[in-house]
Amino acid sequence: MIAYDTIGVTYTATRQPDPRVGALIAAALGDARSVINVGAGAGSYEPPQTVLAVEPSPVMISQRPAGAAAAVQARAEALPVAAAAADAAMALLTVHHWADLAAGIAELRRVARRRIVIFSWDQRVTREFWLVREYLPEAAAFDDARTPAVERLADLLGGARIEPVLIPMTAATGSASRTGGGPGPTWIRWCARACRSWRSRATRPWRRDCGGSRRTWRPARGTTATVTC
Ligand SMILES: C[S@@+](CC[C@H](N)C(=O)[O-])C[C@H]1O[C@@H](n2cnc3c(N)ncnc32)[C@H](O)[C@@H]1O
Repeated sequence: MIAYDTIGVTYTATRQPDPRVGALIAAALGDARSVINVGAGAGSYEPPQTVLAVEPSPVMISQRPAGAAAAVQARAEALPVAAAAADAAMALLTVHHWADLAAGIAELRRVARRRIVIFSWDQRVTREFWLVREYLPEAAAFDDARTPAVERLADLLGGARIEPVLIPMTAATGSASRTGGGPGPTWIRWCARACRSWRSRATRPWRRDCGGSRRTWRPARGTTATVTC
């Protein structure tokens, strides 16, 4: 069972890339002339010099735009690619899904000649976001069990530069990282359809209540959140 064959059906509608995040990813890739995108999904943040996208879900592959790099249906743990096949390999918002993280990162190291870029999140920060901490402890626990620590990623890479990527509140991407949390009323639009932890047990009551339509939800603190179920 490939999770994103179910939860990825609306991916391109709910999780568009944000140009500010994209600029940081492009800068991290530096002057790499060829890139292999692992866990590529629908191709968010994929630079023009991408030579191959590797993705296990046909539903995600089907959402790749016309003209995008060729995609092969495969997993990070066994890349169907020769050693040192590209200048760089990148893995964006995907390592928490891999069944064998160490094997997947070993594969990134095998195929990349010069650079590896991984974009993930620090679960210690996300779990302290008030909405998650106070209202979605089960979603936090779900991600606690799956999200690799940034330091572990760096260890598996044999050392790495760790750069914080601050997600603007106005970011286009509908991931759990796009959060408000400042004082005063905050408008948050959550996209629960295409985010695995939000489909965990924690959000079932919300999704049932929503009946598929957008619903305005008023938690404590006077904050208004629009939850798209
Ligand atoms: C949150 S999406 C990210 C997609 C894309 N990288 C992006 O930034 O929009 C996670 C992707 O990882 C893929 N994935 C899951 N398990 C994988 C594995 N073992 N190897 C490679 N990709 C995997 C999923 O199918 C999904 O497309």
